[in-house]
Amino acid sequence: PRVAVIVVAAGSGTRLSAGAPKAFVGLDEHTVLRHCLRGVFDARPAQVVVVAPGDRVGEALADAQEAAGERRDLVSVVAGGETRQRSVSAGLEAVWPDVETVLVHDAARALAPGDLVDRVVDAVDRTGWGVVPVLPVIDTIKRVEQDRITGVVDRAELAAAQTPQGFRRDVLEAAYRVARTEYTDDSALVADAGHPIASVAGDARAFKITTPADLARARALVSGAPI
Ligand code: CTP
Ligand code: MG
Repeated sequence: PRVAVIVVAAGSGTRLSAGAPKAFVGLDEHTVLRHCLRGVFDARPAQVVVVAPGDRVGEALADAQEAAGERRDLVSVVAGGETRQRSVSAGLEAVWPDVETVLVHDAARALAPGDLVDRVVDAVDRTGWGVVPVLPVIDTIKRVEQDRITGVVDRAELAAAQTPQGFRRDVLEAAYRVARTEYTDDSALVADAGHPIASVAGDARAFKITTPADLARARALVSGAPI
């Protein structure tokens, strides 16, 4: 099936506080966005939609076209919105008519590899369900009320969600049309619209660059340090 990947890059990166919107911060000579797009293009999508801050659409287009190389015709860039959900919605508007499967990916997961993207596409193909890559939860998780520990949560029944998340295009569009609140991720929005969601194995390299420590880790990884 024809696959479009929406890469949301319109956030401001408040918690990173690196002087520029997160997607435009350098990991080496290349930006977070450029690194993210390398993984995306490795999966050979039919279309890539980058959602950028309104005042950085041109910059994002130049960066994305360089990442695309001879496949630059596959790249569209649109302006994002106030929230991630609005940014995804803006990206969806730009998906070409013949696309059947849509993945939504955080630019901030700059080092997510192409085989993770492939795994999500294959699972959407096979099941028709929404698909979320997950990793096991490592920490022991406690239930708390203010200062008091009130219980322990069995971590075997928990998983940490990553992106790219994948959906049949018609399912994702229908779910966005009926969404009336803000959701923490696309799969929660789609689940609330009544569609089943499957999980596939996530990848440690798909961690989200959120804090300065995450940025330091991503920079160390691209410079060849072991994970
Ligand atoms: N995002 C977006 N539009 C928004 C908010 C977020 O496209 N209005 C994107 C970000 O660019 C990022 C992804 O959604 O790639 C995940 O969001 P997050 O990690 O929260 O990034 P920021 O919102 O930029 O960071 P912060 O919350 O620290 O400001
Ligand atoms: Mg945010």
